Amino acid sequence: MYFKKNKLFVEKVDALKIVRKYGTPTYCYSLNRLRNNIRNFQRSFKSISPLICFSVKSNNNRQILKEIKKFGVGADVVSKGEMMQALKAGILPKKIVFSGVGKKTEELKFAIEKKILLINTESESEIFEIERLAKLKKKIVNIGIRLNPNIDAKTLKKISTGKHEDKFGLTEKAFLNILNKFENSKYVKVKCLSVHIGSQITDYKPYLKMLNVLDLIIKKSKYFFEYVDLGGGMGIQYDKKTKVFNYKKYNKIIKKFLKRHNVKIIFEPGRSLIANTAVLFTQIIYIKNTNKKKFIILDAAMNDLMRPALYGSYHSIIPLLKTNKKNKRIHDFVGPVCETTDKFLSVKSFQDLKEKEFVAISDVGAYGMSLSSNYNLRPKPLEIMINNKLMKVVLKRQKLINII
Ligand code: LLP
Repeated sequence: MYFKKNKLFVEKVDALKIVRKYGTPTYCYSLNRLRNNIRNFQRSFKSISPLICFSVKSNNNRQILKEIKKFGVGADVVSKGEMMQALKAGILPKKIVFSGVGKKTEELKFAIEKKILLINTESESEIFEIERLAKLKKKIVNIGIRLNPNIDAKTLKKISTGKHEDKFGLTEKAFLNILNKFENSKYVKVKCLSVHIGSQITDYKPYLKMLNVLDLIIKKSKYFFEYVDLGGGMGIQYDKKTKVFNYKKYNKIIKKFLKRHNVKIIFEPGRSLIANTAVLFTQIIYIKNTNKKKFIILDAAMNDLMRPALYGSYHSIIPLLKTNKKNKRIHDFVGPVCETTDKFLSVKSFQDLKEKEFVAISDVGAYGMSLSSNYNLRPKPLEIMINNKLMKVVLKRQKLINII
């Protein structure tokens, strides 16, 4: 995405052309950015040849999954729905891992039937349930056990997952206990040690701590794990102040870890592959001037993009037509939903804007559409993919008739 003669372009298409043709709010993806992200990720970790399982919760669009699959990437899923979507996109079961603290019997049955690579379990009860189902079906099921390493990932509090106060995984003691219990199970084979400490992590140091904890527990367990699943969490630059996550350093410390342990690494990246591939186009409905500030009322709202309302996260906003006329009032970019948190951004100044004009909200490819809802009975946005000059609708706009 770039400006040419002050006009915003997505690859080779003028953004104005997109919004005029398809309306707003619209999620717009750049296919070539996605391809570059995947290539860059694969290149960075080439020396440790990991299995990369895209975290479908970050974006579950089937056409997007199909594109990702072309790179040999698998899927990390957290529900039967995501598993079905990954399979429909053509991702092979042997490249699918199933995570989550509360998998229901029906979901586990489905995973067992489909013979996916691993079910990453998070409690003793869950493993007993898998064993019961496996016995019924006379199958051997491969599982991972998720460790809670009690590490502060130094990220947003609301998306941290690796501390003892979080609901995820098992403490070291419980982990070793369970491993002992199921070591000789006829139906459940523990193949993987899995971990995921949080999301939007921008420094490699929490990962270093995590690897040290894994080191110790593997030694203590004296168990041979075929896989170590390191989860996802690598952050992106939502603003210029944020550090760029250093893949090279992460690769280096994993390489060292692999010298001590002969295992295959699994990654579950979501955000790092998809977040910066998309913008959300939206139109200004009204502008309301008060004595305190200017409210720019957009036709996108918290139901379309939840992150700012839910986590206070930052997404920059860019005009489709750049001008030099600066307006030095506080601008609050808000949606029409009846909640004060339905606000995307507050800035001290912005270029002069007019009603009916369009703007783009940046870096919304991850946890954008997948977190959207029908709150206020608003239909979900359309999704479009740009490939050079081509525009392809990858999900139609939801029709009101289908939700009321
Ligand atoms: N693996 C597991 C087990 C996870 O729980 C997650 C994300 C991932 C992989 C992918 O993490 P990523 O590479 O995308 O950071 N909705 C929040 C993020 C929630 C992340 C939940 N787990 C947000 O919009 O920031």
